Amino acid sequence: MAQIIGGIGTSHVPAIGAAIAKGAQNDPYWKPFFDGYGPAREWLKETKPDIAVVFYNDHGLNFFLDAMPTFAVGAANEYCNADEGWGLPVMRPYMGDADFSWKLIEQLVAEEFDITSCQKMLVDHAFTVPMQLLWPEGTPPVRVVPISVNTIQHPLPSALRCFKLGQAVGRAIAAHEDPDLKVVVLGTGGLSHQLDGTRAGFINKPFDTLCLEQLVEEPQRLTHYSIRELIELAGTQGVEILMWIAMRAALGDKARRVHSHYHIPISNTAGGLLLMEPQEAPAFAPARTFRQHVGAA
Ligand code: DHB
Ligand code: FE
Repeated sequence: MAQIIGGIGTSHVPAIGAAIAKGAQNDPYWKPFFDGYGPAREWLKETKPDIAVVFYNDHGLNFFLDAMPTFAVGAANEYCNADEGWGLPVMRPYMGDADFSWKLIEQLVAEEFDITSCQKMLVDHAFTVPMQLLWPEGTPPVRVVPISVNTIQHPLPSALRCFKLGQAVGRAIAAHEDPDLKVVVLGTGGLSHQLDGTRAGFINKPFDTLCLEQLVEEPQRLTHYSIRELIELAGTQGVEILMWIAMRAALGDKARRVHSHYHIPISNTAGGLLLMEPQEAPAFAPARTFRQHVGAA
């Protein structure tokens, strides 16, 4: 049984990557934001996870409106980013773990999640910026499993469906045979923001504050919002809170807050960071394997 050691929700705004590329972390605009990441970086240095499972939303780099999977899981040994037009650097490839990914995918399909498996997958700013924020020294010392959730082409998966996906990911990790494997789960995006339309620039601090509390204590309550309600409360792109909900669900019933940080504005968003540890491991009964599911010996 692999061990989930923690979950981290973080912003992924491309302007953060541009600030890092320029070395502007100590500029007055950026300093209060970047200062919030110290405790999370320290925690990662101390706990040394082997694998990072990353819930993020592709913004049109790997998937576009012509073919948009609701849930896509990377199954590669290497993931690259590419020029998205934000002026962000092309990074060295991120190390994957195809074997771990396939075990995860088998469990998810056995649990009736109809995911798209990707043996090639470009990862966009929603993946690369959190990697830079959490491991600023360079290429992250973890193997990664990107899980892309559709937040672009409606209909989007509901908050409840994302929560259930996170729970299934948690069970799949718990079912992994290597007891020494340490896994951190990330959810990237948000917090409240809207980039387009008459509400462009919309930020909702009371709702973000509520999310940061409920994600720790009562994450199930966030699954009661419809996608329309989430968009109304968090903004069109604030619906990225779905990634945080999936991440939190993977941690099991009880989690404790280790660190959180909130800063307005970062580009057009409320910048958020939340680090939690699961409180009751193991929180899950092991998932059935695919062979058990289909009744094979
Ligand atoms: C911004 C925010 C996002 O979540 C994103 O994916 C791109 C841009 C922004 O605030 O500029
Ligand atoms: Fe985004």
